[in-house]
Amino acid sequence: MKIGIVTGGGDCPGLNAVIRAVAKTATKRGWETLGIIGGYDGLLAPQNYRVLDYKALDGLLVRGGTILGTANRGQFSAKTGHGETRQLPKELMDATKRGLEALGISALVSVGGDGSLTIAQQMHEAGIPIVGVPKTIDNDLAATTITFGFDSAVACATDALDRLHTTAESHNRVMVLEVMGRYAGWIAIYAGMAGGADVILIPEIPFRYESICAAVQEREKNGKHFTLVVAAEGAKPAGGDYVTSGGQQQNREARLGGIGAVVAAEIEQRTGKETRSMVLGHLQRGGSPTFMDRVLCTLFGAKAVELITEGRFGRMVCHNGKFVESVPLAEATGRLRTVPLDEGFVHATRSLGICLGD
Ligand code: F6P
Repeated sequence: MKIGIVTGGGDCPGLNAVIRAVAKTATKRGWETLGIIGGYDGLLAPQNYRVLDYKALDGLLVRGGTILGTANRGQFSAKTGHGETRQLPKELMDATKRGLEALGISALVSVGGDGSLTIAQQMHEAGIPIVGVPKTIDNDLAATTITFGFDSAVACATDALDRLHTTAESHNRVMVLEVMGRYAGWIAIYAGMAGGADVILIPEIPFRYESICAAVQEREKNGKHFTLVVAAEGAKPAGGDYVTSGGQQQNREARLGGIGAVVAAEIEQRTGKETRSMVLGHLQRGGSPTFMDRVLCTLFGAKAVELITEGRFGRMVCHNGKFVESVPLAEATGRLRTVPLDEGFVHATRSLGICLGD
């Protein structure tokens, strides 16, 4: 038996740890694992792959990025604009099937976020034996309580906030940190709580500048001459739109970015407080996974191979808050999991007096 594994979408800490877990579990069953290079494109002729034998797995648990490479644009993109879905052409599906046949692969593990898993679902509908593993720092997949990569991204953003805290305090400044997360505020709210932010702006709650500035002035009145603001890249003012950077490209999702600088300029102009902003950007996606992500990746990888063993294709490995299980890919894609406004996180932040911008 020969299986394939492919990593798609943006890179993320833990991809290599999943590759390792899948290949190790498969090897134990006496199967061979082929790693497809450069995303789904590697399945097309001339196929691009590498054999993932025991030697190839050395050091993968802690290594950032993906040794297989990845792609979040091109002919295999299923998400465009503001998350709209596109159906892949039949010819591309047929070429993919021919590629799998040529390689002798009888099951494929797709490791990706909403875009890559939407393609996986389309492949499943076209008869390709495939299972999914949920990856994204954004933590925005509906059918799992957690995706791998999220914990590492939050650790990075929290570290940045700790550092900004001391410089903000030393200079009596307002510091605005823009974090990733696309249309969900998970990274912002987790890092904001962990890093002691005074204002947290998330896409789920359109903000008002009056409210943000009132929070800055309130702190000033209380003798706190600095303020830490975390802005999710998808945060937007009430009645306003997302801030995007770079032109819209074919077969690509809109590139969010720039809201931090906009908010900083407005705070400075309205309050007279010296304000700086920084974009944390791809630092959140790089480097070694945290211990939580290493464990999650190992659990997810082993479960993916278990699904293949049982012939349960068209499913995605997931976490239900207690243990690892699986759900149909169809239930896992196309529905974003955003920060709920009526429970835990939002209630707790409000009760601590943290400003959410509304
Ligand atoms: O989905 C992960 C993510 O890092 C988002 O948080 C961010 O909006 C996007 O990818 C950035 O993508 P790119 O690396 O293509 O700019």
